[in-house]
Amino acid sequence: MPRQLFVTTALPYANANFHIGHIMEYTQAGIWVRFQRMQGHEVNFVCADDAHGAPIMIAAEKAGKTPQQFVADIAAGREPYLKGFHIEFDNWSSTDSPENHALARQIYRDLRDNKDGSLIETKTVEQFFDAEKNMFLPDRFIKGECPKCHSADQYGDNCENCGAVYAPTDLINPYSALSGAKPVLKSSEHFFFKLSDPRCVEFLEKWTQGDDEFGKPRLQPEVTNKVKEWFSVRTNPDGSKSEGLADWDISRDAPYFGIEIPDAPGKYFYVWLDAPVGYLASLKNLLDKRGVDYDAYMANPALEQYHFIGKDIVTFHTLFWPAMLKFSGRKTPNNIFVHGFLTVNNDKMSKSRGTGLDPLKYLSLGMNPEWLRYYLAAKLSARNEDIDFNAEDFMARVNSDLIGKYVNIASRAANFINKYFAGKLSTTNTPSGTTTAKGPVQAAWRSAAEIRDAFETREFSKATREIMRLADEVNSYFDRFKPWQLAKDATRHAELHEVCTNCIRAFQILTIYLTPILPNLAKQAYSTLFGLERDPAWNDLKNLATNIQPYQHLMQRVTSEQLEALFEPAAPVEPAQSAIQSAAFVPSGETITPTITIDDFAKIDLRIAKIVNCEAVEGSTKLLRLTLDVGEGSDAKGNLKTRNVFSGIASSYKPQDLIGKHTVLVANLAPRKMKFGISEGMVLAASHGDEKANPGIYVLEPTEGAQPGMRVR
Ligand code: 2FM
Ligand code: ZN
Repeated sequence: MPRQLFVTTALPYANANFHIGHIMEYTQAGIWVRFQRMQGHEVNFVCADDAHGAPIMIAAEKAGKTPQQFVADIAAGREPYLKGFHIEFDNWSSTDSPENHALARQIYRDLRDNKDGSLIETKTVEQFFDAEKNMFLPDRFIKGECPKCHSADQYGDNCENCGAVYAPTDLINPYSALSGAKPVLKSSEHFFFKLSDPRCVEFLEKWTQGDDEFGKPRLQPEVTNKVKEWFSVRTNPDGSKSEGLADWDISRDAPYFGIEIPDAPGKYFYVWLDAPVGYLASLKNLLDKRGVDYDAYMANPALEQYHFIGKDIVTFHTLFWPAMLKFSGRKTPNNIFVHGFLTVNNDKMSKSRGTGLDPLKYLSLGMNPEWLRYYLAAKLSARNEDIDFNAEDFMARVNSDLIGKYVNIASRAANFINKYFAGKLSTTNTPSGTTTAKGPVQAAWRSAAEIRDAFETREFSKATREIMRLADEVNSYFDRFKPWQLAKDATRHAELHEVCTNCIRAFQILTIYLTPILPNLAKQAYSTLFGLERDPAWNDLKNLATNIQPYQHLMQRVTSEQLEALFEPAAPVEPAQSAIQSAAFVPSGETITPTITIDDFAKIDLRIAKIVNCEAVEGSTKLLRLTLDVGEGSDAKGNLKTRNVFSGIASSYKPQDLIGKHTVLVANLAPRKMKFGISEGMVLAASHGDEKANPGIYVLEPTEGAQPGMRVR
């Protein structure tokens, strides 16, 4: 019976682009999901933007946008990362979706109306209030002098200088980081989730400290131990005492970007209440689109639910989230898989800023995403320990493992099969004169269970180690039988056939094992070498190929120039000398064209244009007709002077999508007579070099404030 799995990663805050830590988490979860699917299991793998909360509301205000627009703009930038690193969620939604509003409110009502006694209560809380901004201040937006070490401008919750943890009210001379005003204490009614209720404590102790549904310890040992501390009476870093689990403040006062609490006007859920509900909401959004009943799906007792998260958000996922689900009468997660942080060249990563390894820069340098996927897999285990991206180690691993060991097998053995045996693999089992010839194939087969278990338990480093050990074995086998010598002796061609066949067979087995980590390379090997236009399947282990095609190059090496460019701080890479042009893989589908001078560029007069009208062009499926205000004033009759421009963007935009938007026009392009009229310029839009394979056209839009006629330089 296929298992039914519902898998998520943590939902990223919609206030910044992804950093390398996100890519690591999504890669880890994605490998696991691909592996499960290869075992025949059915997986729904979803994510969403974590849209709510004060920091996002404040950032949106600073950017002069509504929070909704701000979040939508961040969401619009997600795709190049996900596509670029072969991360395939089944759905990407937002915690500001109608599904999440409805579900969060319903879960709250179910907690409040729990038949054995409500799990919600209200208490009056005194907090700092910014009278100028007319809002309560989140801890991070109150600053002042540290009460311990007296360094200035420290945050309301802890000191970055001495590490002290304190309440905002302990700060000396506090001020609002939003307005600079001195905050005043003001009380307000807050809603609490009663985590200290004996029912919650009893349930959570069992859930976190006990076994899972399969009789194995549920949480990772180090997580179990950490969580255990939270149940006991203890001394906090600031010297105060905690009596086990404390009630959780789940409300915030308006103004707040969030979900309004039922029957409590002006009160909103604290972002961490509705964020994990977003897991369910994204799943519901997906199932609705597929016409599958969400309630029935969740009611399946065999459904397994897993969340991949970082070690900094364990409390939310091992206490609040399971308790919310349990006491609102819902299915609780089967497990929470916690990973450590990723450091880059041993530099600590900041949660919001990430590290010096910019994922998009990595891709733009033509660096293969699967190098990174492999490297991460080779370092990831089931423990929540930190891992380090080390540039030298990265280059050594990728070049020696993937190219020197794995790809090497195919590139060495395939040529003999093609040259002497017309691509046909041998069907005999033992080559003359040896009993070990089947060795590498059998060895590769024998490891199937071990490798499968390593993937299942998220011991990816163990899986890659075993795969590379096998690759070593195949290469030594090849060296031992010296096919280049067998080829010279016509009487030994049966042996040659057998030896190279075994290497190719072992290569196919290793390809199957590597598929969850290197989906693209594996597919490419299947297509180019075995002529199979599909993804490798685990079942292929029992049914290996009988023919091959001429070997085609599978993967480039990492170069030190690429790594240097990757970590080069701001200096732009000189395209002519960079690896961009030498690398085979270019994510944009096009390499950079030869260098021009600033004078060449100055010849192009780029202007901000407002799209005052846009319409379909009869007789053309490609073109839209744009009427543009380019700031050229009015004519003698007082009518706005506009330009008529035809643009080949109809595949990506409906006319009404564009009306009112600003864009960039090449204003000094010679007018061009077209079938449908004269085009007076050209609007700028981005697209992939291979538009067929990567459709999508993106019209350029300036940030807010640009006026028609302004020059773009
Ligand atoms: O820590 C974070 O980045 C949060 N946005 C994670 C939320 S996970 C889930 F609860 F939504
Ligand atoms: Zn201090």
